[in-house]
Amino acid sequence: MAKVLARDLYGPKVAARVPAGWQAPEYRRLSLEPLTPTIGAEVSGVDLGHVDDELADELHWALTEWKVLFFRDQQLDREAHAALVTRDGEVIDHPFAKHTEVYGADQSDTAPGAMRFVKGEKSVGIENFWHHDMTFLARPPMVTALRALEVPPVGGDTLWADMAAAHDCLPEDVCERIADLWAEHDWYDNYGRSMSPELREAVRPEFPAVRHPVVARHPVTGRRVLFVTRAFTQRIIGLSETESDDLLEMLWAQADRSEYQCRFRWQPDSVAIWDNRACQHYAVSDYAPQRRVMERISGDGPPPSH
Ligand code: SIN
Repeated sequence: MAKVLARDLYGPKVAARVPAGWQAPEYRRLSLEPLTPTIGAEVSGVDLGHVDDELADELHWALTEWKVLFFRDQQLDREAHAALVTRDGEVIDHPFAKHTEVYGADQSDTAPGAMRFVKGEKSVGIENFWHHDMTFLARPPMVTALRALEVPPVGGDTLWADMAAAHDCLPEDVCERIADLWAEHDWYDNYGRSMSPELREAVRPEFPAVRHPVVARHPVTGRRVLFVTRAFTQRIIGLSETESDDLLEMLWAQADRSEYQCRFRWQPDSVAIWDNRACQHYAVSDYAPQRRVMERISGDGPPPSH
């Protein structure tokens, strides 16, 4: 592959919101206010506590189109929260949430599969790196819904990055080079660092490293999506360590491009629902010692494939 020049990666970005030929249906129940041209829309006129089949369909298509949807003033019980992520899958129990040494928060008062992030007072936010959730699983989440219980008056925003747009804007020879590659994803160097050696080795057999395509086809649209993350991708299979590190560093850096990002400012009772296959997210850790309490539920989907 020819050397990738800065101007190829950092030049003007012209990204499409949806793949060529794909048409979102007309929304009759949703009112959408885009945050950027390709990713993120705030939805009004919807009560997520009462979602009938027609509304569920529209939410599904809007999520496919915008990759992350935002809602204000939603009083959700845990059943309604879980229903937002289980249209096509099952709630995923985060395998390490119950180990308080990893996440810090007591998860005993949450719904099955829900994770509570209590940050700011005693521990700082540690989700301030770009990631798709839980790609160390063979079937990582398809959809995640995060709701805000308590937020600081300012700070604690979350950003999302459109990894389909990021893929489309890569130089052509890079797209060709990465099209058929696979990468190893693992939790060990990430969560493992907060675990005692005993716990780490005890959970290891149940959660070995897994392989995912570097470029995955989106399960709904078939669009190509860059699917590597600083959090969990360890190496690209079949490349030398140096080649793999260099290529990953360049691919990871795509999420840093502002053109692919949107940013959301939370209020209590705000909800974000995101397509975990199409975007990565980054929780800004700028609010300690103020308190920020969030609850997250994820639903699975098919294994990522080329
Ligand atoms: C996460 O990484 O899923 C948490 C995002 C957030 O707290 O904003």
